[in-house]
Amino acid sequence: MGKILICLALGLLCLDLAECRNFKIDTEKVEYSAINCRKHSAVLTDFGGKGDGKTSNTDAFKAAIANLSKVSSDGGALLVVPPGKWLTGSFDLISYFTLYIHKDAVLLASQEESDYPLIDPLPSYGRGRDAAGKRDVIIEYLTIIAPVDSPNTDGINPDSCTNTRIRDSFVVSGDDCIAVKSGWDEYGIKFGKPTQHLSIKRFTCISPDSAVIALGSEMSGGIQDVRAEEIYALNSQSGVRIKTAPGRGAYVKDIYVRNLNFDTIKYVFWMTGAYGSHPDDGYDPNALPQVTNINFKDVFAKNVTYVGDLSGIQGDPFTGICISNVTAEVATKKKSVNLYENAKKKVKLPWNCTDIGGVSSRVSPTPCDLLPEKQVDCAFPGDTLPIDTVVLKTCSVGV
Ligand SMILES: *[C@@H]1O[C@H](CO)[C@@H](O)[C@H](O)[C@H]1NC(C)=O
Ligand SMILES: *[C@@H]1O[C@H](CO)[C@@H](O)[C@H](O)[C@H]1NC(C)=O
Ligand SMILES: *[C@@H]1O[C@H](CO)[C@@H](O)[C@H](O)[C@H]1NC(C)=O
Ligand SMILES: *[C@@H]1O[C@H](CO)[C@@H](O)[C@H](O)[C@H]1NC(C)=O
Repeated sequence: MGKILICLALGLLCLDLAECRNFKIDTEKVEYSAINCRKHSAVLTDFGGKGDGKTSNTDAFKAAIANLSKVSSDGGALLVVPPGKWLTGSFDLISYFTLYIHKDAVLLASQEESDYPLIDPLPSYGRGRDAAGKRDVIIEYLTIIAPVDSPNTDGINPDSCTNTRIRDSFVVSGDDCIAVKSGWDEYGIKFGKPTQHLSIKRFTCISPDSAVIALGSEMSGGIQDVRAEEIYALNSQSGVRIKTAPGRGAYVKDIYVRNLNFDTIKYVFWMTGAYGSHPDDGYDPNALPQVTNINFKDVFAKNVTYVGDLSGIQGDPFTGICISNVTAEVATKKKSVNLYENAKKKVKLPWNCTDIGGVSSRVSPTPCDLLPEKQVDCAFPGDTLPIDTVVLKTCSVGV
């Protein structure tokens, strides 16, 4: 089974170039974590890479990965990206492979559009939309920073993935920090490959125009058993958001979220059943998604605009929603001294619910009538997922 480990130890900007140059490539001992210690290793500079922040490294990455793919069935391979600023376009990872990004190494995304060639669409999309991906994936200690005004810059997209673990990572994005997907309308229904058993822990996000974690909108292979905890967000549009539409089919179910801490957020809870957006006219408007068993607990949010905007689908309500132990401090705008101006202003309701059903407990401000108080502690599974128990080996190699 293919296993990719996107490693580790990334995140700090390499501000001290002098120190970067001191990285002794021929003597440095690299310690890394991997599902299996890799038998082979190489350094990006072996393939002509230059970490000067100006030279394109796209060809170096591609050459290195092509070269190392030859040993994937012989103990796997490690590619070391040493300290420096490595400008690059897109490249694909392979199985039995660890990409090791030194803590003083930064991958800089090329600003040339031609460095991002179109790839063939997944069969679950019918036409191009997102990059291919599936395989057991572990993402840890990863920092991804995109300009907040850049469109379509999702941080991490688990798409038709089973067994994915995301830990201790930080994303700044102009789109969703994590977007969970599984195919689009009739193509995704036909392909039928869900994203399931996804575990997210200690994740920090800044997403002024999108969600911390989005479920959908392309979810036509289904999304099931997502566990997210210890999620922090600053200056973001919404928390864990469900996006779907008639035509998507499939389901979003068994979603468990706890320990959320948000500072400045427009919607703490947001569900949208009328997201629209279809690949073509061939979708079946009667293919209704089933959204059920969605659990949130232990949430603190300050400087909130709306607490909950929950809209299901008429005739296909979102059910089994449970929200407990939530404190949301709704921002109060300074009142204008002009009483006439005040009277004209539309009152913002903290909650607005349509076509949903569920319960709530100890939630402030008081939720909508469709989430009556029931003195419950919303569920969070006590068991562990297989991907949670994968222990990474500590490995080292002289490169
Ligand atoms: C690529 O792999 C081959 C072994 O197949 C090896 O001999 C060669 O040195 C490698 N190229 C580089 C630039 O390391
Ligand atoms: C309620 O949630 C807060 C986090 O917002 C947590 O610190 C607290 O322990 C929770 N209370 C209970 C009774 O679980
Ligand atoms: C509260 O949120 C608004 C945006 O809704 C933002 O402009 C303001 O700076 C925030 N205030 C604080 C104290 O963070
Ligand atoms: C509440 O949500 C429904 C459905 O999205 C929308 O039609 C309605 O305008 C909203 N009400 C308010 C007061 O925002």
